[in-house]
Amino acid sequence: MSATSSWGTNIKLSIFGESHGPAIGAVLDGLPAGVPLCMEDIEAQMARRAPGRDKSSTPRKEADTPRFASGVLDNHTTGAPLCILIENTNTRSQDYANLALVPRPGHADYTAFLRYGGHNDVRGGGHFSGRLTACLCAAGAVCRQILLQRGVHIGGHVLSVGSSFDEAFPEVEIPSSLLDRLSREYFPVIRPDAETQMRAVIEEARMARNSVGGTVEIAVSGFPAGIGGPLFGGVEPVLSSILFGIPAVKGIEFGAGFQVAKARGSENNDPFYYQDGQVRTKTNHAGGILGGITTGMPLLFRLALKPTSSISLTQESINLSTQSNEALEVHGRHDPCIVPRAVPVAEAAAAVALLDLLLTAGDQRTL
Ligand SMILES: Cc1cc2nc3c(=O)[nH]c(=O)nc-3n(C[C@H](O)[C@H](O)[C@H](O)COP(=O)(O)O)c2cc1C
Repeated sequence: MSATSSWGTNIKLSIFGESHGPAIGAVLDGLPAGVPLCMEDIEAQMARRAPGRDKSSTPRKEADTPRFASGVLDNHTTGAPLCILIENTNTRSQDYANLALVPRPGHADYTAFLRYGGHNDVRGGGHFSGRLTACLCAAGAVCRQILLQRGVHIGGHVLSVGSSFDEAFPEVEIPSSLLDRLSREYFPVIRPDAETQMRAVIEEARMARNSVGGTVEIAVSGFPAGIGGPLFGGVEPVLSSILFGIPAVKGIEFGAGFQVAKARGSENNDPFYYQDGQVRTKTNHAGGILGGITTGMPLLFRLALKPTSSISLTQESINLSTQSNEALEVHGRHDPCIVPRAVPVAEAAAAVALLDLLLTAGDQRTL
């Protein structure tokens, strides 16, 4: 059977571990040597994703301290595979005892049982747990630093929770200071009052023992023009293949996305013009990508995240052992809304993919 937890062409990312095993981690191979890394920044990115900060996220608290087992010496990459270990310190496996045979609707318990014949670790969702995204955050934080040293800024925000919306990114002129601010925040939004409204929607879902989904919008500025390629090696397919690996992501749109289906060509085409010798476009419905190749305009994409499947309302399920229908009560600690915590994860995934694309383009001059 083929491996499913590895990704990349030049950067090879491999994620390992299970939610309630001793540790989870990532191996990142193919990084340039001699790149200075700020360890505090990597921890800060992981802290944005870590659970247990407030009532909008799962009460499971994890220190999420990354330990670098190889690939870093004196805070510089060595060029050897970089191995990041994160210990699991706060597990309550008894909460998951019933899920081996009575799968959670909307989660991976049933399909994992089919695929692995019941040998998979169901505790805390095992290898399917959202906790595995801590590894992606750590690996992405490393790649993001390399990109930042080349003037590439990545930032995202919670665009919506349920039907409560933040303001969208401006499509042509996105200040890197805005992206830098968002990429440090725990509940990143552009319009300050959006957070209060969204938190109220999340709290309402939590009180109803339910959950709520939403969208994340990511923008990238400073990424060079002319990177990518047609067909399967294009920027959209490369980004999508890692972004769809984030658990609970159910949709991705680039630029105007599904709105293009309603537009005329004259409305959707982004007119070109020269500004100070640089080719720009007046609008950016393309999200900075044409023919799978970057135009030099900001990259813009959005992810749709489903409502957390583990809800404490009683649900209809089945018992795989007795082959009968059975009601299920989910125990354990779960986010009523994973959207805010998915923002740093999506930024991290984008950083890994964009560094991989840069290296594919042979752009190693200053790497
Ligand atoms: C940051 C993050 C945290 C998550 N936390 C939970 C959680 O607490 N409970 C849960 O049921 N699902 C959680 N998920 C989603 C599940 O891992 C995911 O729905 C499940 O693996 C099934 O995969 P699918 O939704 O992609 O089909 C989380 C996802 C992310 C990205």
